Amino acid sequence: MSSEPPIICFKDVYKYYHAGNEKVTALSGVSLEFQQGDFVSIMGPSGGGKTTFLNCLGGLDLPDRGEIFLKNRLLNNMNDKELTELRRKEIGFIFQFFNLMPTLTILENVELPLLINHSARNQSKQVQDLLDYVGLSHRSKSFPAELSGGEMQRVAIARALVHRPAIVLADEPTGNLDSDNGIKILELMKKASVDFGTTVVMATHNLQIADYGNRHFEIRDGKATLRQS
Ligand SMILES: Nc1ncnc2c1ncn2[C@@H]1O[C@H](COP(=O)(O)OP(=O)(O)O)[C@@H](O)[C@H]1O
Ligand SMILES: [Mg+2]
Repeated sequence: MSSEPPIICFKDVYKYYHAGNEKVTALSGVSLEFQQGDFVSIMGPSGGGKTTFLNCLGGLDLPDRGEIFLKNRLLNNMNDKELTELRRKEIGFIFQFFNLMPTLTILENVELPLLINHSARNQSKQVQDLLDYVGLSHRSKSFPAELSGGEMQRVAIARALVHRPAIVLADEPTGNLDSDNGIKILELMKKASVDFGTTVVMATHNLQIADYGNRHFEIRDGKATLRQS
């Protein structure tokens, strides 16, 4: 066991949604810890609570009960400004539908997190290096619609890493790709987590995909359990 403090810690977290008169318990007492550099896969059926978990972890949604610590900071007490700042600096997001900006070139899409962060570093080199890293420097002037799904997800990976976040959250990152491209994306995410020392937390309902990573959890009916691998 590592003696390092966990980079992410959930303590008895509950999240409820209200749909009409019905109260949905999306997270039901989730407690878990991840260490820096972990590649975590969160498996579980649709509606089990994976996206809710990632949204709470990324500060996009706040829990109703329990505590969430990110790098030893308690998320619960942060205001919107602090949460936004935390997301911009510490977190990269990868989504099922890529979520690239259609009117921006590939280069501009990858550059965006740096512009938002007002990064003073040498940006263009950083962006070029990342595009190189994902094998798409030759497409830097293209627009997202001109790329295949696998290529768009590689751009999304570059965008998620460009500001060197501590954590990358990926919600069904291969859900819109065929299995060959899905595997390639996972291999790239795994390599990036090692090369950049990034903690990756990935949600998927695909068992084959979930076997990637060094820690495997299942979230079902809002409850998280360690999955035997
Ligand atoms: N914005 C919302 N409003 C109402 N119910 C929601 C909302 N988001 C999620 N839920 C419900 O919370 C539960 C968990 O959903 P979700 O976290 O999206 O699961 P998963 O990502 O594993 O498919 C589901 O029952 C879903 O219907
Ligand atoms: Mg989901």
